[in-house]
Amino acid sequence: MDAKICYSFLSELKRAGLELSGPGICLRLIKFEDLPTTLAWRNREDIRHNFINSDIISWEGHSKWWEGYRVKNNDFIFLILETERLSRSVGQVSLYNINLDHSEAEYGRLMIGDNEARGKGLARRATELLIAWAFNSLGIERIYLEVFKNNTIALNLYRQFGFITTGDRGRLYRMSISRETRPSSFEGIKQEDSIR
Ligand SMILES: CC(C)(COP(=O)(O)OP(=O)(O)OC[C@H]1O[C@@H](n2cnc3c(N)ncnc32)[C@H](O)[C@@H]1OP(=O)(O)O)[C@@H](O)C(=O)NCCC(=O)NCCS
Repeated sequence: MDAKICYSFLSELKRAGLELSGPGICLRLIKFEDLPTTLAWRNREDIRHNFINSDIISWEGHSKWWEGYRVKNNDFIFLILETERLSRSVGQVSLYNINLDHSEAEYGRLMIGDNEARGKGLARRATELLIAWAFNSLGIERIYLEVFKNNTIALNLYRQFGFITTGDRGRLYRMSISRETRPSSFEGIKQEDSIR
């Protein structure tokens, strides 16, 4: 792990408003004003059933969750913005449970909530940016996730990145990718970090 990376650095990144950008896409940390949009996406029938907690979330519950989220220094949720054609927010993705002592983090909360933006490679590009940031800027060695076995689209996406199945939890697979096992084609991916 890069000796310079510590939790106070992560707190500073979160406070300052980190952005990760690549061609046609930008990931920026969610803000309070994004919550109605992200909640509406998350509560959609076709989206919520792909999450481990698939209950409908109330506004009160979401606001309470936000209060906890905003002070956590190991939990980063990004809004996915398409910046070329649609020029709007289209989804979200997250790196959380960041453990700098073990150099690992969990990937998840991925959704493309804007139907017009589906199937256009934005989830792939958002995943590329986030994983590149974790490996290259945070010094993370291993990223893990959980996915329902019947979520073919997400499984295809994760396998494309070199995630391998490491566990079986009933309806779920546990998968992970490590710096050593990621595909070599992935090493060239560049992401630009900036702070607003
Ligand atoms: C999973 C999700 C984010 C993918 O969004 P998307 O816009 O379709 O993704 P992309 O266009 O970036 O495609 C990424 C990869 O997903 C896979 N994929 C996309 N559409 C697919 C389809 N219809 N069938 C099979 N695989 C598909 C492919 O591997 C694709 O890569 P490729 O284009 O290089 O072949 C979107 O379907 C979604 O929001 N689903 C509901 C929430 C969810 O399931 N989240 C994941 C929880 S683990």
